[in-house]
Amino acid sequence: MAKNWTPSSWRDLPIQQVPDYPDADALATTEARLKKFPPLVFAGEARRLTTALGRVADGQGFLLQGGDCAESFAEHEADNIRDFFRVFLQMAVVLTYGAQQPVVKVGRIAGQFAKPRSSNIEKQGDVELPSYRGDIINGIDFDEKSRIPDPERQIMAYRQSAATLNLLRAFAQGGYANLDNVHRWMLGFVKDSPQAERYQMLADRISETMDFMKAIGITPEANPSLRETDFFTSHEALLLGYEEALTRTDSTTGEYYATSGHMIWIGDRTRQADHAHVEYCRGIKNPIGLKCGPSLEPDDLLNLIDILNPANESGRLTLIARFGHEKVGDHLPKLIRAVEREGKKVVWSCDPMHGNTISLNGYKTRPFERVLSEVENFFHIHRAEGTHPGGIHVEMTGKDVTECTGGARAVSAENLSDRYHTHCDPRLNATQAVELAFLVAELLKGGRVNENKVAVNA
Ligand code: TRP
Ligand code: MN
Repeated sequence: MAKNWTPSSWRDLPIQQVPDYPDADALATTEARLKKFPPLVFAGEARRLTTALGRVADGQGFLLQGGDCAESFAEHEADNIRDFFRVFLQMAVVLTYGAQQPVVKVGRIAGQFAKPRSSNIEKQGDVELPSYRGDIINGIDFDEKSRIPDPERQIMAYRQSAATLNLLRAFAQGGYANLDNVHRWMLGFVKDSPQAERYQMLADRISETMDFMKAIGITPEANPSLRETDFFTSHEALLLGYEEALTRTDSTTGEYYATSGHMIWIGDRTRQADHAHVEYCRGIKNPIGLKCGPSLEPDDLLNLIDILNPANESGRLTLIARFGHEKVGDHLPKLIRAVEREGKKVVWSCDPMHGNTISLNGYKTRPFERVLSEVENFFHIHRAEGTHPGGIHVEMTGKDVTECTGGARAVSAENLSDRYHTHCDPRLNATQAVELAFLVAELLKGGRVNENKVAVNA
């Protein structure tokens, strides 16, 4: 590994998942243009996120990270952003109540465009074409022209990210995220749910708390913290030329930040310690996520932690476990023990999506029961190890799609074709996402009850 890091030092190392741009000059021209564009986020915001995640690492908060598997140019609409945010905030309220701790809100949005693929080639019938790699690289249509990587798409992705972020900032700070609104939406969800009885108790307690606060004068009108929320963006740092072009020095500290989003993560396919993606990420100061799949051994993880977080700073590194509901029990405990043994400070988050993908009636899908089962196992394992189950990372949308099966308003195998819209992996729909939040809130509350019991007995 190169000793001296620069925003381009990754270019000297082996790299996985790179698109084959036919016109190198056009690519270089685009990257040079991007270098002059304004940053999308500021260093100070990224630092604030690190601080918030530091509290999660110390057991004093919970991370909610979620959004599309892949954002798309075709679905860049105000309604989609609004509907996502509306569902995301409902999840956040329910989780805040369940955890009785602040929830750090991080969207997979405003930059989540590049996708790693298991094969470079997609075959349909007798025709073989380069795989779709996300709208920032090529087009999803199965024809030769659309699959050619086009640098101009990076400019489009940048502009879409800027517009998306602009609207999200307005929503978060301009009144839409008012707790009264979010509470009302959440009650609407419960009323319409076939599982209403199960969720009613928690919903009632939130309502009582809101009424009590109002009675003593703690109102959104009087308290900005009830009207506004901190919302952060994140994406997989896969397309490193784009990331490099948006890497800037912070004028107050002289340190480098990725300004394409507040948090970026390294995928399970690109986390080789001596390869380009890890090299790029080690040099920027943003909070970093690392996807941890079944092939990650404890020693490799410790090595990656040393590279990515040498100062052992709380909040710098989030480990995103994505094993599958049956495998999590085999893999997670040994990683937790290695991290604990070495005293490493990390946020442990659970991605219950990527290890639970199956094929059904020709569709890629994820059964809701398996998603829930991985989260439950994740919580039980952390409770058994005495560590903090710090968050969840989900693929979700605010729309009523039929991509994952199950849930209280059950999507069946036959329903999948009704509204299957994803550009990549199957996402939880709006009701499945809020339902998951209620179930996780129960797990969080359960943990607190147990802790209290221990405290009383001790
Ligand atoms: N500002 C607080 C927070 O972000 C309370 C809050 C306001 C909130 N609006 C919200 C919480 C919407 C969740 C969802 O936690
Ligand atoms: Mn995905």
